[in-house]
Amino acid sequence: MSAQTRRTSARTSTGPRILAFGHYQPERVVTNEELAARVDTSDEWIRSRVGIASRHIAAPQESVTDMAVHAGAKALAASGLPADEIDLVVLATCTQETQIPVAAPAVAHRLGIEAPGAYDINAGCAGFTYALAVTADALRAGSARNALVIGSDKMSAWVDPSDRSTCVIFADAAGAAVLAGRGSHDGWIGPVAWGSSGRNADKITVRDRHSFFAQDGQAVYRWATSLAPVALEACRRAGVAPTELAAFVPHQANLRIVRSLARQLGAPQALVADDIVESGNTSAASIPLALSRMTEQGRLHSGDPVLLLGFGHGLTCAAQVITAP
Ligand SMILES: CC(C)(COP(=O)(O)OP(=O)(O)OC[C@H]1O[C@@H](n2cnc3c(N)ncnc32)[C@H](O)[C@@H]1OP(=O)(O)O)[C@@H](O)C(=O)NCCC(=O)NCCS
Repeated sequence: MSAQTRRTSARTSTGPRILAFGHYQPERVVTNEELAARVDTSDEWIRSRVGIASRHIAAPQESVTDMAVHAGAKALAASGLPADEIDLVVLATCTQETQIPVAAPAVAHRLGIEAPGAYDINAGCAGFTYALAVTADALRAGSARNALVIGSDKMSAWVDPSDRSTCVIFADAAGAAVLAGRGSHDGWIGPVAWGSSGRNADKITVRDRHSFFAQDGQAVYRWATSLAPVALEACRRAGVAPTELAAFVPHQANLRIVRSLARQLGAPQALVADDIVESGNTSAASIPLALSRMTEQGRLHSGDPVLLLGFGHGLTCAAQVITAP
């Protein structure tokens, strides 16, 4: 199949598309200075090594479900779809407070979406891009008319507040997208390119329910910066040349990783998401949070082709090209 043929088939797709984004960040903003008063770190170290200036941290009683409900409500309102037209709710999270039950059914119930298909996905910080992929496939297959996909993580509950190597990086948030199913329209969600590296499973862990988050930062850094081919494969499958991308929104793990990946894409015109500066690493929320904030800030426009790349524990990764709503 020629590149031209691929491009034509992807762009005229009558498959699923994103109607709207929404996001939620807890009220409390924690600056680098505040952290430096608590652990042996500095604003200079955090900005230069990770790229974060501040982050939002949830209140003790604020849950993954609460944040997901706030973000989902905003996305639903922005989409204009009534709750009873949503047939599927998928929540990407790795920090759900309870092992049993899963959170998605309760999130749906609180949003007034009665009895949809509802389940959680745990693919770590790649969770949103995995959820988007399988939900788009469900819509393509006709298993649902419209769907709500949410990424919500309360990383602060799993990070040791006295461990300077992790407490400066992670934060809390939720981001959501409303997806419309089959129909005649311009926007689309491209085919996923995904993968995993089980041999590196021990590089990011929470060993048991009494342990905190731990990672081999340098090993994960090397792996994350090797993922440009996965992102480029997503472009190839969508029939979009890197030079046609309006924006690149990878998981916001580290600004140096984001910039390294962006340099490897051959897409100098693309706006590169830098939401980590004000939001920190919010795990499965980071990509929809960045998309929602960039849309709100007027940096993304309707019809823009945007390349997403999620990566996280497992290790897992997934990329797709979408058009902005
Ligand atoms: C975690 C990460 C920011 C650490 O940055 P780094 O440049 O690799 O730093 P290192 O771990 O090599 O540590 C360098 C030094 O800084 C110190 N350090 C670690 N955290 C610090 C902090 N917050 N403030 C000051 N110094 C710190 C270390 O103790 C070490 O000191 P030493 O040289 O005396 O031993 C970086 O490796 C990273 O982003 N990795 C990828 C993580 C990722 O993407 N995870 C995905 C999860 S979703």
